[in-house]
Amino acid sequence: MDKVLVLDFGGQYNQLIARRVREQRVFAEIRPYDRVEARDVKEYSGVIFTGGPASVYLEASPRCSRDILEAGVPVLGICYGVQLMAWLEGGEVSSAGGSGEYGRTLLRTENHPLFRDIPGESVCWMSHTDYISRVPEGFRVTAVTDSCPCAAMCCDEKKLYGVQFHPEVVHTQYGKHVLRNFLFDVCGCAGDWDPRDYASELIEEYKARLSGKRALLALSGGVDSSVCALLLHRAIGSRLTCVFVDHGLLRKGEGDLVENTFRPFLGGSLIRVDAEERFLKALKGVRDPERKRKIIGEEFIRVFEEEARKLGHTEVLVQGTIYPDVIESGKGSSAVIKSHHNVGGLPENVSFDEIAEPLRELFKDEVRSVGSMLGLPRELVWRQPFPGPGLAVRIVGEVTREKADSLREADAIFREEVEKAGLDAAPNQYFAVLTDLRSVGVKGDARTYGFTVALRAVTTDDFMTAEWTRLPYEVLERASSRITNEVAGISRVVYDVSSKPPATVEWE
Ligand code: XMP
Repeated sequence: MDKVLVLDFGGQYNQLIARRVREQRVFAEIRPYDRVEARDVKEYSGVIFTGGPASVYLEASPRCSRDILEAGVPVLGICYGVQLMAWLEGGEVSSAGGSGEYGRTLLRTENHPLFRDIPGESVCWMSHTDYISRVPEGFRVTAVTDSCPCAAMCCDEKKLYGVQFHPEVVHTQYGKHVLRNFLFDVCGCAGDWDPRDYASELIEEYKARLSGKRALLALSGGVDSSVCALLLHRAIGSRLTCVFVDHGLLRKGEGDLVENTFRPFLGGSLIRVDAEERFLKALKGVRDPERKRKIIGEEFIRVFEEEARKLGHTEVLVQGTIYPDVIESGKGSSAVIKSHHNVGGLPENVSFDEIAEPLRELFKDEVRSVGSMLGLPRELVWRQPFPGPGLAVRIVGEVTREKADSLREADAIFREEVEKAGLDAAPNQYFAVLTDLRSVGVKGDARTYGFTVALRAVTTDDFMTAEWTRLPYEVLERASSRITNEVAGISRVVYDVSSKPPATVEWE
Protein backbone atom coordinates (compact mmCIF):
# COMPACT_ATOMS: atom_id res chain seq x y z
CA MET A 1 0.00 0.00 0.00
CA ASP A 2 1.34 3.45 -0.94
CA LYS A 3 1.65 6.00 1.80
CA VAL A 4 2.05 9.75 1.55
CA LEU A 5 3.49 11.84 4.33
CA VAL A 6 1.85 15.17 5.12
CA LEU A 7 4.45 17.22 6.95
CA ASP A 8 2.69 19.64 9.26
CA PHE A 9 4.01 23.20 9.42
CA GLY A 10 1.10 24.50 11.47
CA GLY A 11 -1.40 25.43 8.75
CA GLN A 12 -5.11 25.29 9.31
CA TYR A 13 -5.78 22.94 6.40
CA ASN A 14 -3.45 20.08 7.35
CA GLN A 15 -6.17 17.59 8.12
CA LEU A 16 -7.98 18.63 4.99
CA ILE A 17 -4.90 17.85 2.88
CA ALA A 18 -4.65 14.36 4.40
CA ARG A 19 -8.34 13.78 3.79
CA ARG A 20 -8.08 14.93 0.18
CA VAL A 21 -5.23 12.49 -0.37
CA ARG A 22 -7.19 9.66 1.19
CA GLU A 23 -10.18 10.56 -0.99
CA GLN A 24 -7.91 9.61 -3.89
CA ARG A 25 -7.49 6.25 -2.17
CA VAL A 26 -3.93 6.90 -1.12
CA PHE A 27 -3.14 6.51 2.58
CA ALA A 28 -1.88 9.76 4.14
CA GLU A 29 -0.26 10.30 7.51
CA ILE A 30 0.24 13.67 9.19
CA ARG A 31 3.45 14.17 11.19
CA PRO A 32 4.85 17.31 12.83
CA TYR A 33 7.67 18.89 10.77
CA ASP A 34 10.26 18.48 13.54
CA ARG A 35 9.69 14.78 14.13
CA VAL A 36 10.69 13.53 10.72
CA GLU A 37 14.15 12.90 9.31
CA ALA A 38 15.24 12.12 5.77
CA ARG A 39 15.56 8.41 6.50
CA ASP A 40 11.90 8.27 7.67
CA VAL A 41 10.77 9.72 4.37
CA LYS A 42 12.04 6.79 2.32
CA GLU A 43 9.11 4.59 3.27
CA TYR A 44 6.67 7.03 1.60
CA SER A 45 5.76 7.41 -2.05
CA GLY A 46 5.54 11.16 -1.67
CA VAL A 47 5.69 14.01 0.81
CA ILE A 48 3.48 17.10 1.07
CA PHE A 49 4.68 20.17 2.95
CA THR A 50 1.64 21.96 4.34
CA GLY A 51 0.97 25.65 4.70
CA GLY A 52 1.54 27.51 7.92
CA PRO A 53 1.33 31.02 9.33
CA ALA A 54 5.09 31.70 9.68
CA SER A 55 7.54 33.62 7.48
CA VAL A 56 10.32 31.37 6.33
CA TYR A 57 13.03 34.08 6.50
CA LEU A 58 12.47 34.61 10.24
CA GLU A 59 14.76 32.64 12.52
CA ALA A 60 11.94 31.15 14.59
CA SER A 61 10.02 29.75 11.61
CA PRO A 62 9.33 25.99 11.45
CA ARG A 63 11.86 24.33 9.15
CA CYS A 64 12.63 20.74 8.38
CA SER A 65 15.98 19.43 7.29
CA ARG A 66 16.97 20.04 3.66
CA ASP A 67 17.92 16.35 3.51
CA ILE A 68 14.23 15.54 3.14
CA LEU A 69 14.30 17.28 -0.24
CA GLU A 70 17.35 15.25 -1.20
CA ALA A 71 15.88 11.87 -0.26
CA GLY A 72 14.73 11.22 -3.83
CA VAL A 73 11.06 11.06 -2.79
CA PRO A 74 8.76 13.52 -4.64
CA VAL A 75 7.76 16.53 -2.54
CA LEU A 76 4.84 18.91 -3.11
CA GLY A 77 5.02 22.16 -1.12
CA ILE A 78 1.80 24.05 -0.51
CA CYS A 79 1.73 27.76 0.47
CA TYR A 80 4.27 28.07 3.31
CA GLY A 81 5.48 24.63 2.18
CA VAL A 82 6.55 25.89 -1.26
CA GLN A 83 8.18 28.96 0.27
CA LEU A 84 10.16 26.72 2.60
CA MET A 85 11.16 24.55 -0.35
CA ALA A 86 12.34 27.64 -2.25
CA TRP A 87 14.24 28.93 0.78
CA LEU A 88 15.92 25.59 1.55
CA GLU A 89 16.99 25.27 -2.08
CA GLY A 90 18.59 28.73 -2.13
CA GLY A 91 15.75 30.82 -3.58
CA GLU A 92 14.38 34.02 -2.11
CA VAL A 93 11.15 34.67 -0.24
CA SER A 94 9.95 38.22 0.40
CA SER A 95 7.05 39.92 2.09
CA ALA A 96 4.47 41.65 -0.11
CA GLY A 97 3.83 44.02 2.78
CA GLY A 98 0.19 44.94 3.00
CA SER A 99 -0.61 43.61 -0.46
CA GLY A 100 -0.86 39.84 -0.06
CA GLU A 101 -3.29 37.74 -2.05
CA TYR A 102 -6.39 36.38 -0.36
CA GLY A 103 -9.36 34.47 -1.72
CA ARG A 104 -10.32 33.51 -5.26
CA THR A 105 -7.64 34.46 -7.79
CA LEU A 106 -7.15 33.86 -11.50
CA LEU A 107 -4.34 31.35 -12.04
CA ARG A 108 -2.40 30.96 -15.30
CA THR A 109 -0.68 27.61 -15.57
CA GLU A 110 1.93 26.30 -18.02
CA ASN A 111 2.08 22.92 -19.56
CA HIS A 112 3.35 20.61 -16.84
CA PRO A 113 2.42 17.13 -15.60
CA LEU A 114 1.21 18.65 -12.32
CA PHE A 115 -1.38 20.63 -14.31
CA ARG A 116 -2.45 17.89 -16.68
CA ASP A 117 -6.13 18.24 -17.71
CA ILE A 118 -6.31 21.74 -16.27
CA PRO A 119 -7.10 24.68 -18.58
CA GLY A 120 -4.44 27.40 -18.88
CA GLU A 121 -6.64 29.76 -16.90
CA SER A 122 -8.62 28.71 -13.85
CA VAL A 123 -9.58 29.92 -10.39
CA CYS A 124 -7.46 29.13 -7.36
CA TRP A 125 -7.64 30.00 -3.66
CA MET A 126 -4.82 32.12 -2.29
CA SER A 127 -3.95 33.10 1.26
CA HIS A 128 -0.46 34.56 1.61
CA THR A 129 1.53 37.70 2.32
CA ASP A 130 4.99 36.31 1.57
CA TYR A 131 5.86 35.20 -1.94
CA ILE A 132 8.75 33.59 -3.77
CA SER A 133 10.65 36.52 -5.27
CA ARG A 134 13.42 34.40 -6.82
CA VAL A 135 13.12 30.69 -7.61
CA PRO A 136 16.09 28.48 -6.73
CA GLU A 137 18.54 27.42 -9.38
CA GLY A 138 17.32 24.48 -11.41
CA PHE A 139 13.64 25.37 -10.76
CA ARG A 140 11.20 26.97 -13.15
CA VAL A 141 7.99 28.88 -12.61
CA THR A 142 4.97 26.90 -13.85
CA ALA A 143 2.11 29.22 -12.85
CA VAL A 144 1.53 32.89 -12.10
CA THR A 145 -1.28 35.19 -11.02
CA ASP A 146 -1.56 38.94 -11.57
CA SER A 147 0.24 39.70 -8.35
CA CYS A 148 2.21 36.52 -7.70
CA PRO A 149 5.22 35.95 -9.96
CA CYS A 150 5.59 32.36 -8.73
CA ALA A 151 2.23 30.72 -8.07
CA ALA A 152 3.85 27.34 -8.79
CA MET A 153 7.37 26.07 -9.40
CA CYS A 154 9.08 22.78 -10.10
CA CYS A 155 12.37 21.00 -10.51
CA ASP A 156 11.44 17.81 -12.36
CA GLU A 157 14.93 16.41 -12.02
CA LYS A 158 14.77 16.50 -8.23
CA LYS A 159 11.04 15.70 -8.20
CA LEU A 160 10.32 18.86 -6.23
CA TYR A 161 7.07 20.74 -6.87
CA GLY A 162 5.24 23.52 -5.18
CA VAL A 163 2.13 25.64 -5.40
CA GLN A 164 1.46 28.91 -3.65
CA PHE A 165 -2.31 28.35 -3.82
CA HIS A 166 -4.33 25.82 -1.85
CA PRO A 167 -5.33 22.81 -3.97
CA GLU A 168 -7.04 21.21 -0.94
CA VAL A 169 -9.85 23.77 -0.59
CA VAL A 170 -12.96 23.51 -2.73
CA HIS A 171 -12.59 27.06 -4.03
CA THR A 172 -9.59 26.00 -6.10
CA GLN A 173 -11.38 24.91 -9.25
CA TYR A 174 -8.92 22.18 -10.24
CA GLY A 175 -7.36 21.53 -6.82
CA LYS A 176 -8.35 17.89 -6.88
CA HIS A 177 -6.65 17.48 -10.27
CA VAL A 178 -3.40 18.96 -8.94
CA LEU A 179 -3.34 16.53 -6.01
CA ARG A 180 -4.34 13.65 -8.23
CA ASN A 181 -1.61 14.46 -10.76
CA PHE A 182 0.95 14.65 -7.99
CA LEU A 183 -0.13 11.37 -6.38
CA PHE A 184 -0.53 9.30 -9.52
CA ASP A 185 1.67 10.82 -12.23
CA VAL A 186 4.52 12.07 -10.08
CA CYS A 187 4.56 9.69 -7.10
CA GLY A 188 3.23 6.70 -9.04
CA CYS A 189 0.71 5.75 -6.34
CA ALA A 190 -1.69 2.93 -7.15
CA GLY A 191 -4.76 4.38 -5.39
CA ASP A 192 -5.66 1.12 -3.73
CA TRP A 193 -6.22 2.29 -0.15
CA ASP A 194 -9.67 1.44 1.07
CA PRO A 195 -10.72 1.87 4.69
CA ARG A 196 -12.76 -1.31 4.33
CA ASP A 197 -9.71 -3.40 3.42
CA TYR A 198 -7.93 -1.66 6.23
CA ALA A 199 -10.69 -2.85 8.58
CA SER A 200 -10.04 -6.45 7.57
CA GLU A 201 -6.34 -5.93 8.27
CA LEU A 202 -7.21 -4.43 11.64
CA ILE A 203 -9.33 -7.42 12.55
CA GLU A 204 -6.42 -9.75 11.77
CA GLU A 205 -3.99 -7.53 13.64
CA TYR A 206 -6.11 -7.40 16.79
CA LYS A 207 -6.78 -11.13 16.61
CA ALA A 208 -3.06 -11.66 17.00
CA ARG A 209 -2.37 -8.75 19.34
CA LEU A 210 -5.11 -9.56 21.82
CA SER A 211 -4.77 -13.31 21.61
CA GLY A 212 -6.07 -14.83 24.86
CA LYS A 213 -6.75 -11.38 26.37
CA ARG A 214 -10.03 -9.89 27.52
CA ALA A 215 -11.11 -6.38 26.58
CA LEU A 216 -13.63 -3.87 27.84
CA LEU A 217 -15.32 -1.06 25.92
CA ALA A 218 -17.68 1.71 27.00
CA LEU A 219 -20.31 1.64 24.29
CA SER A 220 -22.22 4.90 23.88
CA GLY A 221 -24.01 4.21 20.63
CA GLY A 222 -22.01 7.00 18.98
CA VAL A 223 -20.40 5.97 15.71
CA ASP A 224 -16.83 5.66 17.04
CA SER A 225 -17.52 3.37 19.97
CA SER A 226 -20.04 1.39 17.90
CA VAL A 227 -17.55 0.71 15.11
CA CYS A 228 -14.89 -0.20 17.68
CA ALA A 229 -17.28 -2.68 19.24
CA LEU A 230 -18.05 -4.42 15.95
CA LEU A 231 -14.43 -4.48 14.87
CA LEU A 232 -13.10 -5.93 18.09
CA HIS A 233 -15.96 -8.34 18.35
CA ARG A 234 -14.90 -9.72 14.97
CA ALA A 235 -11.33 -9.98 16.26
CA ILE A 236 -11.79 -11.49 19.71
CA GLY A 237 -15.45 -12.53 19.90
CA SER A 238 -16.86 -12.97 23.38
CA ARG A 239 -13.61 -11.91 25.05
CA LEU A 240 -14.84 -8.37 24.36
CA THR A 241 -17.34 -6.99 26.86
CA CYS A 242 -19.22 -3.81 26.01
CA VAL A 243 -20.78 -1.79 28.78
CA PHE A 244 -23.60 0.50 27.70
CA VAL A 245 -24.57 2.88 30.48
CA ASP A 246 -28.08 4.20 29.97
CA HIS A 247 -28.12 7.31 32.15
CA GLY A 248 -31.77 8.00 31.43
CA LEU A 249 -30.91 11.16 29.51
CA LEU A 250 -30.86 9.64 26.07
CA ARG A 251 -33.18 10.60 23.24
CA LYS A 252 -36.46 8.81 22.64
CA GLY A 253 -35.94 5.14 21.82
CA GLU A 254 -32.16 5.45 21.83
CA GLY A 255 -31.36 2.99 24.62
CA ASP A 256 -33.39 0.28 22.90
CA LEU A 257 -31.92 1.11 19.50
CA VAL A 258 -28.40 0.57 20.85
CA GLU A 259 -29.35 -2.60 22.66
CA ASN A 260 -31.33 -4.05 19.75
CA THR A 261 -28.49 -3.29 17.36
CA PHE A 262 -25.71 -4.83 19.41
CA ARG A 263 -27.42 -7.69 21.24
CA PRO A 264 -27.49 -9.90 18.12
CA PHE A 265 -23.75 -9.38 17.63
CA LEU A 266 -22.61 -9.40 21.22
CA GLY A 267 -25.17 -11.57 23.02
CA GLY A 268 -24.24 -11.83 26.69
CA SER A 269 -21.10 -9.76 26.15
CA LEU A 270 -23.25 -6.63 26.02
CA ILE A 271 -24.05 -5.26 29.44
CA ARG A 272 -26.77 -2.60 29.54
CA VAL A 273 -26.82 -0.78 32.82
CA ASP A 274 -30.07 1.06 33.48
CA ALA A 275 -28.85 3.81 35.74
CA GLU A 276 -31.55 6.45 35.32
CA GLU A 277 -32.46 6.57 39.04
CA ARG A 278 -28.89 6.94 40.04
CA PHE A 279 -28.10 9.79 37.63
CA LEU A 280 -31.31 11.69 38.42
CA LYS A 281 -30.58 11.40 42.12
CA ALA A 282 -27.06 12.73 41.64
CA LEU A 283 -28.42 15.63 39.57
CA LYS A 284 -31.19 16.58 41.98
CA GLY A 285 -31.24 20.30 42.70
CA VAL A 286 -28.23 21.03 40.46
CA ARG A 287 -28.65 23.93 38.04
CA ASP A 288 -25.15 24.84 37.00
CA PRO A 289 -24.29 23.37 33.54
CA GLU A 290 -20.66 22.59 34.30
CA ARG A 291 -21.59 20.94 37.58
CA LYS A 292 -24.13 18.82 35.72
CA ARG A 293 -21.47 17.73 33.22
CA LYS A 294 -19.04 16.90 36.00
CA ILE A 295 -21.57 14.89 37.99
CA ILE A 296 -22.56 12.88 34.93
CA GLY A 297 -18.92 12.23 34.00
CA GLU A 298 -18.06 11.06 37.50
CA GLU A 299 -21.16 8.96 37.89
CA PHE A 300 -20.50 7.38 34.54
CA ILE A 301 -17.02 6.34 35.59
CA ARG A 302 -18.32 4.92 38.83
CA VAL A 303 -20.90 2.77 37.03
CA PHE A 304 -18.30 1.65 34.52
CA GLU A 305 -15.84 0.78 37.29
CA GLU A 306 -18.43 -1.27 39.13
CA GLU A 307 -19.14 -3.29 36.01
CA ALA A 308 -15.44 -3.72 35.30
CA ARG A 309 -14.82 -4.96 38.82
CA LYS A 310 -17.60 -7.53 38.50
CA LEU A 311 -15.84 -8.95 35.46
CA GLY A 312 -12.53 -9.42 37.25
CA HIS A 313 -9.20 -8.40 35.79
CA THR A 314 -9.52 -7.37 32.18
CA GLU A 315 -6.28 -6.73 30.34
CA VAL A 316 -7.34 -4.25 27.69
CA LEU A 317 -9.40 -1.05 27.66
CA VAL A 318 -10.68 -0.18 24.19
CA GLN A 319 -11.11 3.45 23.21
CA GLY A 320 -12.82 4.98 20.20
CA THR A 321 -10.07 7.54 19.57
CA ILE A 322 -10.04 8.64 15.92
CA TYR A 323 -7.33 10.33 13.84
CA PRO A 324 -8.31 13.97 14.45
CA ASP A 325 -8.14 13.32 18.23
CA VAL A 326 -4.65 11.87 17.81
CA ILE A 327 -3.42 14.78 15.73
CA GLU A 328 -4.92 17.33 18.09
CA SER A 329 -3.22 15.77 21.06
CA GLY A 330 0.18 15.97 19.37
CA LYS A 331 0.37 12.41 18.08
CA GLY A 332 2.69 10.83 20.59
CA SER A 333 3.98 7.46 19.56
CA SER A 334 2.51 5.94 22.72
CA ALA A 335 -1.24 5.66 23.08
CA VAL A 336 -2.82 9.02 23.73
CA ILE A 337 -5.39 8.46 26.40
CA LYS A 338 -8.33 10.49 25.35
CA SER A 339 -10.66 11.68 28.02
CA HIS A 340 -13.52 10.36 25.98
CA HIS A 341 -16.28 12.92 25.44
CA ASN A 342 -18.88 10.31 25.92
CA VAL A 343 -17.63 8.88 29.16
CA GLY A 344 -16.05 12.01 30.62
CA GLY A 345 -12.80 10.34 31.59
CA LEU A 346 -11.22 7.03 32.43
CA PRO A 347 -11.81 4.75 35.36
CA GLU A 348 -9.21 5.36 38.04
CA ASN A 349 -9.68 2.39 40.30
CA VAL A 350 -9.56 -0.27 37.63
CA SER A 351 -6.24 -1.05 36.07
CA PHE A 352 -5.67 -2.18 32.54
CA ASP A 353 -2.45 -3.53 31.05
CA GLU A 354 -3.00 -1.80 27.76
CA ILE A 355 -5.20 0.54 25.80
CA ALA A 356 -6.36 -0.42 22.32
CA GLU A 357 -7.40 2.30 19.89
CA PRO A 358 -8.22 0.50 16.66
CA LEU A 359 -9.60 3.61 14.90
CA ARG A 360 -6.69 5.92 15.65
CA GLU A 361 -5.62 6.09 11.98
CA LEU A 362 -9.06 6.89 10.57
CA PHE A 363 -11.03 10.03 9.81
CA LYS A 364 -14.70 10.20 10.71
CA ASP A 365 -15.95 9.52 7.18
CA GLU A 366 -13.68 6.46 7.01
CA VAL A 367 -14.96 5.25 10.38
CA ARG A 368 -18.47 5.51 8.94
CA SER A 369 -17.56 3.48 5.88
CA VAL A 370 -15.94 0.79 8.06
CA GLY A 371 -19.13 0.80 10.16
CA SER A 372 -21.31 0.23 7.09
CA MET A 373 -19.08 -2.59 5.95
CA LEU A 374 -19.36 -4.27 9.34
CA GLY A 375 -23.15 -4.11 9.21
CA LEU A 376 -23.82 -1.14 11.47
CA PRO A 377 -27.33 0.16 10.61
CA ARG A 378 -27.62 3.47 8.73
CA GLU A 379 -29.21 5.32 11.62
CA LEU A 380 -26.17 4.60 13.78
CA VAL A 381 -23.62 5.17 11.01
CA TRP A 382 -25.08 8.59 10.22
CA ARG A 383 -26.13 9.56 13.73
CA GLN A 384 -25.81 13.25 14.38
CA PRO A 385 -23.54 14.16 17.29
CA PHE A 386 -25.12 13.81 20.69
CA PRO A 387 -23.39 15.16 23.79
CA GLY A 388 -22.19 12.60 26.31
CA PRO A 389 -24.15 14.25 29.16
CA GLY A 390 -27.21 13.87 26.95
CA LEU A 391 -30.43 15.73 27.62
CA ALA A 392 -29.03 17.08 30.89
CA VAL A 393 -27.37 19.88 28.93
CA ARG A 394 -30.53 20.49 26.92
CA ILE A 395 -32.68 20.99 30.00
CA VAL A 396 -31.85 24.45 31.23
CA GLY A 397 -31.80 24.46 35.03
CA GLU A 398 -32.64 21.49 37.20
CA VAL A 399 -33.09 18.09 35.55
CA THR A 400 -36.10 16.05 36.58
CA ARG A 401 -37.64 12.92 35.11
CA GLU A 402 -40.78 14.83 34.04
CA LYS A 403 -38.73 17.44 32.22
CA ALA A 404 -36.60 14.74 30.56
CA ASP A 405 -39.76 12.95 29.41
CA SER A 406 -41.28 16.14 27.96
CA LEU A 407 -38.08 17.07 26.19
CA ARG A 408 -37.70 13.56 24.76
CA GLU A 409 -41.17 13.84 23.21
CA ALA A 410 -40.66 17.36 21.85
CA ASP A 411 -37.26 16.42 20.45
CA ALA A 412 -38.61 13.30 18.75
CA ILE A 413 -41.39 15.33 17.10
CA PHE A 414 -38.99 17.98 15.83
CA ARG A 415 -36.54 15.43 14.46
CA GLU A 416 -39.35 13.51 12.81
CA GLU A 417 -40.67 16.66 11.10
CA VAL A 418 -37.21 17.67 9.83
CA GLU A 419 -36.60 14.16 8.51
CA LYS A 420 -40.06 13.91 6.92
CA ALA A 421 -39.45 17.18 5.06
CA GLY A 422 -36.56 15.46 3.19
CA LEU A 423 -34.65 18.73 2.87
CA ASP A 424 -31.90 18.90 0.25
CA ALA A 425 -29.64 20.75 2.63
CA ALA A 426 -30.50 19.03 5.87
CA PRO A 427 -29.05 20.59 9.01
CA ASN A 428 -26.02 18.83 10.50
CA GLN A 429 -27.50 18.79 13.98
CA TYR A 430 -31.04 19.54 15.12
CA PHE A 431 -32.74 19.07 18.43
CA ALA A 432 -35.07 20.56 21.01
CA VAL A 433 -34.11 22.33 24.21
CA LEU A 434 -36.29 22.66 27.28
CA THR A 435 -35.80 26.21 28.53
CA ASP A 436 -36.37 27.13 32.13
CA LEU A 437 -38.90 29.72 31.09
CA ARG A 438 -42.60 29.36 31.70
CA SER A 439 -45.11 31.54 29.99
CA VAL A 440 -48.84 32.01 29.81
CA GLY A 441 -50.82 30.18 27.18
CA VAL A 442 -54.38 29.22 26.45
CA LYS A 443 -55.80 25.78 25.65
CA GLY A 444 -59.53 25.43 25.10
CA ASP A 445 -60.83 28.16 27.32
CA ALA A 446 -58.34 27.62 30.05
CA ARG A 447 -55.23 29.56 30.90
CA THR A 448 -52.05 27.45 30.90
CA TYR A 449 -48.64 28.20 32.32
CA GLY A 450 -46.24 25.83 30.60
CA PHE A 451 -42.62 25.63 29.63
CA THR A 452 -41.05 27.04 26.47
CA VAL A 453 -39.30 24.66 24.08
CA ALA A 454 -36.58 26.08 21.84
CA LEU A 455 -35.83 24.36 18.55
CA ARG A 456 -32.24 24.43 17.33
CA ALA A 457 -30.89 23.43 13.91
CA VAL A 458 -27.39 24.22 12.69
CA THR A 459 -25.44 23.90 9.48
CA THR A 460 -21.74 23.34 9.94
CA ASP A 461 -18.68 21.46 8.66
CA ASP A 462 -16.81 21.02 11.88
CA PHE A 463 -19.01 22.27 14.74
CA MET A 464 -16.33 24.85 15.61
CA THR A 465 -18.45 27.45 13.85
CA ALA A 466 -22.07 26.97 12.83
CA GLU A 467 -24.84 28.85 11.07
CA TRP A 468 -28.44 28.54 12.22
CA THR A 469 -30.29 26.64 9.52
CA ARG A 470 -32.94 28.44 7.52
CA LEU A 471 -35.58 25.74 7.98
CA PRO A 472 -38.74 26.19 5.91
CA TYR A 473 -41.55 27.87 7.89
CA GLU A 474 -43.81 24.89 7.16
CA VAL A 475 -41.46 22.52 8.99
CA LEU A 476 -41.29 24.87 11.97
CA GLU A 477 -45.04 25.32 11.91
CA ARG A 478 -45.76 21.59 11.95
CA ALA A 479 -43.22 20.93 14.70
CA SER A 480 -44.52 23.80 16.83
CA SER A 481 -48.14 22.82 16.44
CA ARG A 482 -47.48 19.17 17.20
CA ILE A 483 -45.28 19.90 20.21
CA THR A 484 -47.77 22.25 21.87
CA ASN A 485 -50.64 19.83 21.16
CA GLU A 486 -48.96 16.52 21.93
CA VAL A 487 -46.58 17.28 24.78
CA ALA A 488 -48.11 18.08 28.14
CA GLY A 489 -46.73 21.10 29.94
CA ILE A 490 -45.38 22.90 26.85
CA SER A 491 -47.22 26.08 25.90
CA ARG A 492 -44.77 27.84 23.63
CA VAL A 493 -42.17 27.00 20.97
CA VAL A 494 -39.41 29.33 19.75
CA TYR A 495 -36.73 28.88 17.06
CA ASP A 496 -33.13 29.69 17.90
CA VAL A 497 -31.67 32.04 15.26
CA SER A 498 -28.19 32.43 16.73
CA SER A 499 -25.04 31.31 14.99
CA LYS A 500 -21.81 30.09 16.60
CA PRO A 501 -20.00 32.27 17.53
CA PRO A 502 -21.20 34.09 19.52
CA ALA A 503 -23.67 31.40 20.65
CA THR A 504 -22.70 27.73 21.03
CA VAL A 505 -24.59 24.85 19.45
CA GLU A 506 -25.87 23.51 22.75
CA TRP A 507 -27.61 25.84 25.18
CA GLU A 508 -25.54 24.70 28.14
P1 XMP B 1 -21.04 23.54 21.38
O1 XMP B 1 -22.25 23.62 22.26
O2 XMP B 1 -19.76 23.52 22.16
O3 XMP B 1 -21.13 22.13 20.65
O4 XMP B 1 -21.03 24.57 20.30
C1 XMP B 1 -20.30 21.68 19.61
C2 XMP B 1 -20.58 20.21 19.38
O5 XMP B 1 -20.14 19.44 20.52
C3 XMP B 1 -21.23 18.74 21.09
N1 XMP B 1 -21.10 18.84 22.56
C4 XMP B 1 -20.70 17.85 23.36
N2 XMP B 1 -20.35 16.58 23.09
N3 XMP B 1 -19.98 16.19 25.41
C5 XMP B 1 -20.02 15.76 24.13
O6 XMP B 1 -19.74 14.58 23.91
C6 XMP B 1 -20.30 17.46 25.75
O7 XMP B 1 -20.27 17.83 26.93
C7 XMP B 1 -20.69 18.32 24.67
N4 XMP B 1 -21.06 19.62 24.63
C8 XMP B 1 -21.30 19.91 23.31
C9 XMP B 1 -22.48 19.43 20.59
O8 XMP B 1 -23.60 18.57 20.56
C10 XMP B 1 -22.06 19.89 19.22
O9 XMP B 1 -22.16 18.84 18.27
